[in-house]
Amino acid sequence: RYSARRVSPTNPRILPYGAAAIAEACAVIRAGGCVAVPTETVYGLAADASDSRAVAGIYAAKGRPSFNPLIVHVPDLEAAEIIAMFDDAARDLARRFWPGPLTLVLPLRAGAGIASLVTAGLDTIAIRVPDHRAMQALLDATGLPLAAPSANASGSISPTRAEHVAKSLAGRIPLVIDDGPTSAGIESTIVQGQTILRPGPLSERDLFSGEGRNPALQRESLGDATLRPSPEHRVVAPGQLDSHYAPGKSLRLNATVRREGEWLIGFGAVPGDDTLSIRGDLVEAAANLFDALHRGDASTAAAIAVAPVPETGIGVAINDRLRRAAFPK
Ligand code: TXA
Ligand code: MG
Repeated sequence: RYSARRVSPTNPRILPYGAAAIAEACAVIRAGGCVAVPTETVYGLAADASDSRAVAGIYAAKGRPSFNPLIVHVPDLEAAEIIAMFDDAARDLARRFWPGPLTLVLPLRAGAGIASLVTAGLDTIAIRVPDHRAMQALLDATGLPLAAPSANASGSISPTRAEHVAKSLAGRIPLVIDDGPTSAGIESTIVQGQTILRPGPLSERDLFSGEGRNPALQRESLGDATLRPSPEHRVVAPGQLDSHYAPGKSLRLNATVRREGEWLIGFGAVPGDDTLSIRGDLVEAAANLFDALHRGDASTAAAIAVAPVPETGIGVAINDRLRRAAFPK
């Protein structure tokens, strides 16, 4: 079998769900890589949420042109409470719908060790407990919180089968765990307080009417109605979610020299008070971006400047975020 694999390598490899697939995926994630794994909603591209380089690798693989905050997956409510701060209402939703297609946006616990690229520098975090044996097995094997957006190239349709992933991300990721088609097929419902930020498999009625506390009954609500905007609860379209981290100070882009009063964030050959990547490595730069902006903000300098970053690969996402952060307030 080994030699057959070498003669006819597939990239990514598609391994059927099982102990061997989980062990291999666990090794990739522990080494800072990302793997595609099914959840009950869509296939996710999972990486260690505490490792900013690993998270930057997700963006690089997806070719995502901007850094949206990502959802962190954990095995249970207890694990979620280590990372996020729950109030009674959030805990009630979690107890009723986890594991399941519900993502809660909650205040991030300081010192939880989540990479700032995961939250895009926000002080809140999107977190969920997936209801799928493969993702749960991977969480258990790695012992890590896993950041996972949908496992498709940016701009293409969300993957509900291993073949969708393989086609979309061919040559960009090492491994897909195949456990058949996903059951929900659309991304989880995202809730912040009483607001549905993204409609999904769980409807507003499921979540907020106080009915349907039996999780078995929730399944019946899957359907068109769940995608309709709610009348009472404000639904924010995904495109409106760009509440980005922007520094409090003015930010000058494409700076090659430090001007008076500035904190210069360098890149490659442009040195600075700080650097995104002295080697000019874009994945490393993406991993450092939000931390570097925070450091510039915390410095005694009056303004921040950032060296030019090439508009290639994940550099497109870095520049998108820098332009938003630099936009006059
Ligand atoms: O079903 C799902 O949720 C899938 C599977 C793989 O679990 N995951 C998924 O993840 O859709 P992702 O990373 O593509 O979803 C991220 C979205 C962002 O676009 C944003 O809308 C929202 O989650 N989000 C994340 N963090 C947020 C935050 N702190 N505040 C508001 N929205 C946030
Ligand atoms: Mg997506």
